[in-house]
Amino acid sequence: MRNGKLVVAQIGCGKFAEFQDLPNIAAIPQLQLKWLCDLDTERAGELSRRYGAEKVTSDFREICADPEVDLIKIATSHEIHLPIIECAASAGKHVFCEKPMAMRDEEAWKIIRTVRKNGIKLCVDLNRRMSPAPQALKRNVEEHLKNPVHSPWRYIETARTPLAEEEYKHMMIRIQDESSSYGLQHLDPLIGGGEIIGESVHWLDVACWFFAPAVPVEITAWGSSRLSHGINVKFSSGDDMTLTFSCSGTFDYPKELFEVAAGNAFFRSEFFVENNTYGVPGAETEYFPMKHYSGNIAEEGFNAYIAKYHERLQGFAGNSKTLENSKPFEVDKGHLNMWRAFVDAVLNDKPSPCDELDGFRSTYLAQLAIRSIECRQTLPVPVERWTPAIFIR
Ligand SMILES: NC(=O)c1ccc[n+]([C@@H]2O[C@H](COP(=O)([O-])OP(=O)(O)OC[C@H]3O[C@@H](n4cnc5c(N)ncnc54)[C@H](O)[C@@H]3O)[C@@H](O)[C@H]2O)c1
Repeated sequence: MRNGKLVVAQIGCGKFAEFQDLPNIAAIPQLQLKWLCDLDTERAGELSRRYGAEKVTSDFREICADPEVDLIKIATSHEIHLPIIECAASAGKHVFCEKPMAMRDEEAWKIIRTVRKNGIKLCVDLNRRMSPAPQALKRNVEEHLKNPVHSPWRYIETARTPLAEEEYKHMMIRIQDESSSYGLQHLDPLIGGGEIIGESVHWLDVACWFFAPAVPVEITAWGSSRLSHGINVKFSSGDDMTLTFSCSGTFDYPKELFEVAAGNAFFRSEFFVENNTYGVPGAETEYFPMKHYSGNIAEEGFNAYIAKYHERLQGFAGNSKTLENSKPFEVDKGHLNMWRAFVDAVLNDKPSPCDELDGFRSTYLAQLAIRSIECRQTLPVPVERWTPAIFIR
């Protein structure tokens, strides 16, 4: 601690660090950035000048050896998480790790062990659960189910009683992305691991968070584990989540759509900016302001988002990637909220908002989905896997 602030080190200074972590650290008054670490020290040096870090290194062990450091943020490629977490935890540093926490179940178990053995706190940036729009979606579904009210014109067949499975909730997540933008490192089995382990951990986590305390009991996946795929997860409550992830889409349209059908009503959350409810009288559209936007369109919501995107393109000669760098434009996916919640957890000894077990579970479900694709089968989620017994010595 320095002057009552947690001293922070950032390991991995790529795109995510530049556009998320470093601005978020700067936005939280209880944090003091001290170190930047990247194999590319020139890049780390450039960012340190911009964000006022005092020290730069290419060796994360130097950071772990600094007694002043309280918290380490990891935003490297995926394969190096375990050694960094082991080094940080044994030096008593708290860790905020980018998703996926691990690429394999065994790695995840070792992470759980080192975190618990050393008594540190770990948070995994499965940030969608901290985003205002999905949180409101969850609240709206729960409120409706407590006291379902329907439109007067709803037709109900009175000649039969309701069937058991009509109680089940269904979540549908649609992702459309543009794979021409993916670097080979994302697809390499040893570095990025492909899109299920690299990206779909987000939506596997959202489903577990959404349907808790129910737990997954069965998973079926299809397609390609490194690119376009689908996953269905069935929960102990009978609820399920179906993810459709296509890499054959375009950046010219928003990537994520969350929908829930529950209690004879329908709930939509469009790209973190607009929620709508159907089949519930009086339900109003909710708008969620963007995190960054410096243009001229005052309205909020999905159509306004599209208009803002097109406004940004006016007179722009670069491509979608250089556009991101030169005209920051961002919806609230919950990254800053996750940072704030974890800082609060560390300072006030509260539970992590997304701990090592959550990190393990999303990794485990991703691995099962990959296995399901490989053997073209539905697979069970056994209790002894879901709740691993980790022996600490
Ligand atoms: N939560 C989200 O929504 C979200 C979004 C994008 C990226 N991410 C995650 O952020 C992480 C980084 O992604 P990115 O897009 O910035 O990738 P990137 O390739 O731009 O950056 C990774 C950086 O890590 C550095 N690095 C690799 N090994 C290192 C080591 N041993 N020591 C120090 N530095 C090392 C690389 O040199 C590189 O600069 C990934 O885990 C990715 O999955 C999360």
